[in-house]
Amino acid sequence: MITVDIRPENVSFPLHTGIMMINDSHDEAEGRRTSSRKKDHVDLCVGSDVTFRTKRTGLERFELVHNALPELDFDEVDPSIQFLGKHCSMPLLVSSMTGGYEEAERINRELGEVCESLGMPMGVGSQRQAMEDTRYLESFRAARRAAPSIPIFGNIGGAEVARHPDIGAIRRLGDMIEADAFAIHLNPLQELMQPEGNPSFRGVLAGIERLVRELEIPLIVKEVGAGLSADVVRRLLDAGIRYIDVAGAGGTSWSGVELLRRGPNADDEMFWDWGIPTADAIIGAAPLCGDAGATLIASGGIGGPRDIAISIALGAHLAGSARILLRTLLDEGQTALSDLLTGWRRQLRGMMFLCGARVVEDLRHAKLHLREVHETRGAE
Ligand SMILES: Cc1cc2nc3c(=O)[nH]c(=O)nc-3n(C[C@H](O)[C@H](O)[C@H](O)COP(=O)(O)O)c2cc1C
Repeated sequence: MITVDIRPENVSFPLHTGIMMINDSHDEAEGRRTSSRKKDHVDLCVGSDVTFRTKRTGLERFELVHNALPELDFDEVDPSIQFLGKHCSMPLLVSSMTGGYEEAERINRELGEVCESLGMPMGVGSQRQAMEDTRYLESFRAARRAAPSIPIFGNIGGAEVARHPDIGAIRRLGDMIEADAFAIHLNPLQELMQPEGNPSFRGVLAGIERLVRELEIPLIVKEVGAGLSADVVRRLLDAGIRYIDVAGAGGTSWSGVELLRRGPNADDEMFWDWGIPTADAIIGAAPLCGDAGATLIASGGIGGPRDIAISIALGAHLAGSARILLRTLLDEGQTALSDLLTGWRRQLRGMMFLCGARVVEDLRHAKLHLREVHETRGAE
């Protein structure tokens, strides 16, 4: 074992010594395992049913109240937003998904091309693999090469943030894709279920606080489909985070993905449906984010323009979607993905018109009808 002093100022990324290379062969082997896991994840998300089994997002409980007097011309309706200082054509981002193995380069390039042509933000998947070896750096860079003008954000696990006190390492991962922001994912459930997982989450909040202080670009904190509770959101806001993505339950079950990876005799099936439904997470987070002036992203099971509109009416600023978009890309191709998203934008505009919402901020105050108990929120 050799110990290498890699002060950030002495290391230009990418180098094989990019991040904390304490033991080269160990990290290379780790990198290979991470690559193969990343490929498993995409294959399972595209080829298997890994949605929640009984739990739903909760968004289906709500209905936008029709406004027969919108006092608007349809032409005036504008679903564009500003996100991370850039103009985006609609309030939807492509959530963090992949990178770090061979085929991921094509996926990130094609997602990037679609996002660039539609003016939508996107995230790359966890860059942990790029901390371990340098083989697949292009798989991350491909997104930025394909999409020079949209907001793109990097990604790393909260556990890595706690484990690696070297801020320079995270900075270099951001530089790799000219990131507009950096997402930190909190995934204790996934790590708990993952065959090779490492559910060590001590020190994550302190690591996040350190990054808030020292990183030059904004940080987004997200779950991966089990949701952020109001209490967690409050602690993140207190730590200085100003972009929160609830990534709630009801869409892709990451517990389910890892249970499938364990094989047919897997115990712990009860965890398949663990998590806070997306609608509940938005409702918990919205007032806190509002008070803190933070941007709230709604994701987890966002499957169309109706989910986007309801999420925003519940208090989110924009929504995010992952697996449905990836499946469309890999099963049907880039044109199909572009057509799907163009259709979502058109239908979202239609819904905004019918709610009397000229801009997305108006939609955040739209009236909602709760189906089960027939309550109307915001009706005066
Ligand atoms: C194939 C795939 C890989 C993913 N990898 C990551 C990742 O590396 N980092 C991360 O923060 N989230 C990752 N996610 C989680 C998504 O960003 C999202 O939070 C989650 O899938 C819930 O959204 P959905 O229901 O729209 O799929 C991944 C999702 C998919 C489908």
